[in-house]
Amino acid sequence: MNDQWHVQPAGALRGEIGVNGDKSVSHRALLIGSVCEGAVRVTGFGPSADTLATRDAMRSLGVRIDDLGDGELVVHGVGLRGLRAPAEPIDARNAGTLMRLLPGLLAGQPEGTFVLDGDESLRRRPMRRVAEPLARMGAAITTTDDRAPLTVVAGAPLAAIDYQPPVASAQVKSCLLLAGLAADGTTRVIEPITSRDHTERLLMAAGARIERFPGRVEVQRSERLVLDRIEVPGDISSAAFLIAAATLLPESHIFLRGIGINPGRTGMLTVLERMGARISVFDRRLTEAGEPIANIEVRAAELIATEIEPEIVPSLIDELPLLALLACCARGRTVVRGAEDLKAKESDRIASVAQALTACGARIESTSDGWKIRGVPARLRGGTIDPQGDHRIAMMGAIAGLHSEQGVRVTDPACIAVSFPGFREILAAAVAVRERE
Ligand code: S3P
Repeated sequence: MNDQWHVQPAGALRGEIGVNGDKSVSHRALLIGSVCEGAVRVTGFGPSADTLATRDAMRSLGVRIDDLGDGELVVHGVGLRGLRAPAEPIDARNAGTLMRLLPGLLAGQPEGTFVLDGDESLRRRPMRRVAEPLARMGAAITTTDDRAPLTVVAGAPLAAIDYQPPVASAQVKSCLLLAGLAADGTTRVIEPITSRDHTERLLMAAGARIERFPGRVEVQRSERLVLDRIEVPGDISSAAFLIAAATLLPESHIFLRGIGINPGRTGMLTVLERMGARISVFDRRLTEAGEPIANIEVRAAELIATEIEPEIVPSLIDELPLLALLACCARGRTVVRGAEDLKAKESDRIASVAQALTACGARIESTSDGWKIRGVPARLRGGTIDPQGDHRIAMMGAIAGLHSEQGVRVTDPACIAVSFPGFREILAAAVAVRERE
């Protein structure tokens, strides 16, 4: 608990760097694989505290999951209506994606009372955003004053609805699509800005009746899903930390292989290009389950300020802490708008990012929906960052440390295991390659 990580300034990042399997796709591989008919082989699974919470949750619901090691799992699907209520509450730990997607599947079960709970941080996050539309479909679901614990009493017949989530959210959309598999009629989710569509792609590959139109997605009731294999791409949200470090540190040059480039996830690459970064995306291909992946090459670059507008926010929502750091080290004034949902993440990220970067000498001011940043194209001074239990703030702090004068002390770095358990070692190896040259 009292572990601290003192990240020293670094010269450059070099070499080929592997990252863990994508967290969003790993959760969905387990959730959707569990309701397929028969065995689904998953490769490239990213074991992290969050995705292991999903693995354990699905096991507690009666799904056999064989862990063959090295990112390979076999999920023995029990069919769309085959989940069984465990005696104990399901512990989602810190995993928001599990807590918000699973009720969609549970609402469609023929029977059982399911209670979902989480850790202290997850218990602070809003859950009405899924409970309210599920209740409109006819589900018997209750929250504890908009928060976890959540209870779903299955067995109520579900009817399709048309729904436009008030905040662009792939978690809400996915929850409703999963419930739509058990609802009579056509469930429509209206999304003016398309968020990550991993659920749609996997469900389509599994034979669900899903149709996509500009600004909306529709699903019909399904009786069975079948998927042989799911290849999980490398996690672009983990790769983002290495991309940021390589961009900031002069003479850096790195390669990342097999990274997911789902268009709902690549906003950071678009913004970095505008800022003058040197990033090439090549060898693009689609996995069998329909996810686009590619190799990415990054070289150091001098950055200029930009504006991050509300329309692009859903495709870089998890990368905003890093983009704030990059903007602090870019020439000119950057404004980020339309990101108020950052307040409902693992920490209030509008506040925690501003606090962390200010503590390192950056000039960043919080607004109600983002930040105003006065960038200086130089190393930060450095300092101490308390990530407040938020994995992405801890990792951003480490990257800030590499690009600082005095280093950055990250208190409580253990939270990094929520999404990227090997981060420290991977970073150390990439920096060490330079030192050995
Ligand atoms: C996720 C969606 C996003 C993202 C989260 C993972 C997902 O959340 O921030 O880390 O896997 O669907 P929202 O749906 O709340 O935007």
